[in-house]
Formats: sequence, C-alpha cells, structure tokens
Amino acid sequence: MTKRAYRAEILSVSADPRDRPDAIRHEPDGLLVIEDGIVLERGAFADLAQRFADVEIEAIAGLIVPGFVDAHIHYPQTERIAAHGEQLLDWLERHIFPAEKAFVDKAHASDVAGFFLDELLRNGTTSALVYPTVHEQSVDGLFEQALARRMRLVSGKVLMDMGPEGLRDTVASGRAESEALIRRWQGKGRLGYAITPRFALASTDAQLADAGALLAEHPEVLMHTHLAENQHEIAAVAARFPDAADYLDAYDRFGLVGSRSVFAHGVHLTERSCARLSKTGAGIAVCPSSNLFLGSGHFDFGQADRHGLRLGLGTDIGAGTTFSMLRTAGLAYEAAIAREDRLDPFRALYLATAGSAALLHIADRVGALEPGQEADFTVLDCTATPLLARRTRGATLADRLFALQILGDDRAIAATYIEGDCAWRRPPLPPEPRRP
Ligand code: GUN
Ligand code: ZN
Repeated sequence: MTKRAYRAEILSVSADPRDRPDAIRHEPDGLLVIEDGIVLERGAFADLAQRFADVEIEAIAGLIVPGFVDAHIHYPQTERIAAHGEQLLDWLERHIFPAEKAFVDKAHASDVAGFFLDELLRNGTTSALVYPTVHEQSVDGLFEQALARRMRLVSGKVLMDMGPEGLRDTVASGRAESEALIRRWQGKGRLGYAITPRFALASTDAQLADAGALLAEHPEVLMHTHLAENQHEIAAVAARFPDAADYLDAYDRFGLVGSRSVFAHGVHLTERSCARLSKTGAGIAVCPSSNLFLGSGHFDFGQADRHGLRLGLGTDIGAGTTFSMLRTAGLAYEAAIAREDRLDPFRALYLATAGSAALLHIADRVGALEPGQEADFTVLDCTATPLLARRTRGATLADRLFALQILGDDRAIAATYIEGDCAWRRPPLPPEPRRP
C-alpha cells in the first residue's frame, strides 16, 4: 500500500452543471490523497492535513483538473493534420485513405501510436476513444503502446468492406478480426474495445448487420462511428439508404443505436434522430475544430439540449487541428455562440472530462477525481504565456477557466499524471524577454 498526497488548487465537474450546479467541486487549497493509483480522499487541505500527517505531501503549483477524455480521435491521421483544400469526402480520398494504407505495417503503426499517445499526454489527455485503421495490427500497435503507458483507452478495428483497395476488409474477416481483438484486449490493463464501422458509406448492409449482431453478442464493448457530419455525406447516405428516415436510421435498422453507441459529430441532426438518440441514450462526441477545418458546420447545442442528448468532446485528429482539449473546449464555445447559444466554461470542462468519460462508459473509473476513482489528472498553468498570465491576474475561477479554454493549449499543461504518477512534465518555460 503506497500512499501519497498532492496539495494544490483542485477543480472537477462530475455532472452537467446545467442540471446539477452542485457537481462543480473546487478546493482553492486542496489535498488529493492517493493510494495505489486510486483517489483515497480529497478535500480542503485544512480539513485533511492532520488525518494524513504521516503521508508525504508534494505541493503542486497550478490548477489540478481530471485528466481530459477525448471522445473521438484517429491516431493514424496524426501525420496528416493540416491537409489543405477539401471537405470531408474528398479529404478522405485525397489525404486520409493513402495515409491509412501504411498501417498494414505493424512497425509503422507502433511508431505513430507511440508519438500519438505521448502527444495526448503532453496535452493533458489521459483517456480517449480512438480510431485505428482497418488493419488488425494497427489496433495491436496502439493497445501495446497504451498498455506500456498505463493509459485508459478504448479502440477497435475499423470495419470498411466498401473501402478502397488496401483498406478493405470483408464481412467474414471483419468479424473474425474483431472477435480476436476483443478476446485479446477487452479489459486488459485499462483497455476497452469498440466495434467501429467507419461510417454508413464504407460498409455493405451485410457488414453493418454483422456489426449490430457482434454488438448484441458483446454487452461489454462500445460501438463507435461517424454521424451526420457533412451535407454531401448526408446526401450520399440518403441516396444509398432511400428507405431510411434519416442518417441515424441507417444505423438503427442494423441494431447500432443504443446506450453503448458513440457517434462523432452530429452536426446536422434531424429532430427525429435527436428524439431517437435521447430515447436510446446514445452519445454524441462534439468535434468543433474538425467541423471548422472541414467546413462541416457548427454543432447545434440548443437542439441537443432541448432533447437532453448525452454529449462529450472530441478533437477528431486529423480533421481536427489540435490535440488540446482546452483549445477544443474553447472552439466548442465559439461553435455555440455562432448559433447564439452559450457554453459555460464549467460545462465545457465537464464535457472534456466526466461527460466524455460517461460516453465511454468509464465515468465510474475516471473523469471527476472522486474517491474511488483512478488518479488521472492534469495540472493547468494560468501563467503559461505572458498573455494568459496578464488576462488571469486576479481573475475569478470562471474567468481563469474560460481564458485557459480560449487562450490555452499544450503550453498550459504543466504536467499530466496517470494513476498518481507523473507521466509527463513540461520543460521549464523560456525566460521573459529582457527589456532595455
Ligand atoms: N467519416 C468517415 N471517416 C472519417 C474520418 O476519418 N474523419 C472524419 N472527420 N469523418 C469521417
Ligand atoms: Zn472522425
């Protein structure tokens, strides 16, 4: 039994503060006591210090928040961020499919996966729901690297039997490889599996039906795909599935819509599909930087909230342009206000942590730094840049948090901890420029 404690300002938002304002928990001078990687106790330093007088306490400068949970990201697209010039379908053909073909090589997959996971840690992200490629070995490469870093990750082989040459499986190979991967990885360390049809346009009806059957046979795994991202894509789905009521219905008829389903984007949802998402408890991973980059549109928070949809936040690298969940939260605010909605900074923090964790069905383990949860956290630095320092001087907590979301990025992550151990620490900041 190893106990240790960190003394710092601590903030978490365990539930949507629109419904539960009391879910915002803030200790200006807090103590986080950890035993064997699990939060044992958390509270005001003044209240806990005596009880834990025998435990070694490390003071941390900065604001501790739960490790970020990225609810939708593609690791094989890491090296294709910032590919110029196309909207979704052309961008996939021109930039993404060629890059994904290289993941047939396990050594390449492992190399990119290692870089990718380190980049997550550098950005304060400790958990994620990740797309690999169609190749079984791309999943092995990712999970092996995640296991070595003790990260809590969910992923699963991409199903795409209508994909281009070199990125195409079959119903049978997709099923066999998915089953083998579930056996190999589900529940190993902190890893989980997600059945992952790429999107409705990349699989035959037979493969979508088989994915639904596989999901029904494995109540322990998630389903992860894309939904209603781009108008050209939506038109193509309507042409392919003329009998479907809308895009969501094209999945629903194959048993792919339920409480374990995570749909990325949902930028253009029908009222009918919102009602269906709400009834089934399926979640949406909102990906604002990707939506801006591909010109897909702005997520409609007003519509989602009228239907009480379960939401999380994702970067969607490499259509997304940043690994930073702080920056992604800031862009979610900008997407909301473009439609005359508002996104409160505490709610944005909830979406980036416990909200995304709930979509991944890991909210009992991570996302709020509550006693009994795994001690994954990140340390935010309000003074990371001269501008941030000036903007947050003497500011309220809400103002500091919002400034971090609008002005912050990887520079504002002072350190990232996995199960109580420091997994990444920012190198010392450069000195202030000298003035004459
Ligand atoms: N729809 C199908 N595949 C993809 C992908 O790789 N990225 C995004 N943003 N949307 C998709
Ligand atoms: Zn995506």
